[in-house]
Amino acid sequence: MLMACGWPDGDENGKLLPLYDPCCGSGTIAIEAAQMACNIAPGALRRFAFERYLPFQAHVWDAIKESALAVSMPNTGEKPIIFGSDVSHRMVDFAQRNAQRAGVADAIEFRGGDALQRMPPTDTPGVMLLNPPYGERIAVGGVAGSAREKAVTEDGGEFFSQLATHWKKNYAGWSGWILTPDLKLPGKMHLKESRRIPLWNGPIECRLFRFDMVKGAVRDKTKATP
Ligand SMILES: C[S@@+](CC[C@H](N)C(=O)[O-])C[C@H]1O[C@@H](n2cnc3c(N)ncnc32)[C@H](O)[C@@H]1O
Repeated sequence: MLMACGWPDGDENGKLLPLYDPCCGSGTIAIEAAQMACNIAPGALRRFAFERYLPFQAHVWDAIKESALAVSMPNTGEKPIIFGSDVSHRMVDFAQRNAQRAGVADAIEFRGGDALQRMPPTDTPGVMLLNPPYGERIAVGGVAGSAREKAVTEDGGEFFSQLATHWKKNYAGWSGWILTPDLKLPGKMHLKESRRIPLWNGPIECRLFRFDMVKGAVRDKTKATP
């Protein structure tokens, strides 16, 4: 998802933009992004099955790992530009611990909170990237979830239309990338996507939709002239 949305390429000068996952769960997206930002090779901290097969040569593999580690850049104490939040404080706790284990705890700021209420984590607009709950495995929580009986449709339609309203009002200049199996999501959000990338989430066919939050796109209907 990170590679597909182009976040690792940065802006026109190659500078990384802020990255925010407002439904971060156990923190995978933020942690992978932080590892990219710190130039940590994927899988550097894990073991692989091929290490048990011949003609595996431990000294060759160790040298490859050492040279990869030598170019990794631990966070330099600068303010993080990678953020994650989740309505479940238990998940935020998991995410924090996972980031510690992955060696990037200092590079990410995790918070609790409802995606429908959280304000941008930074003044500089950036990229939101998320695989939100879509009912098949994980239900919507927070404001929309508690109003489930009266307001939430089975497919999370109400959550997504509220999310779009929140983004339009508060996230001008950001781009929001959403992974979903629901091809009708743009309609539910009343937004036109600027990109649609086919992806598979395990066995589930999905699209990664890009929505651009344009400044001034939302008119205050109470002040609108007839
Ligand atoms: C499909 S999971 C995300 C998985 C995540 N990418 C990971 O690495 O674990 C969806 C997440 O959305 C969270 N969620 C549900 N409703 C939410 C809301 N209103 N605001 C923020 N997060 C919410 C759930 O707690 C769950 O962790």
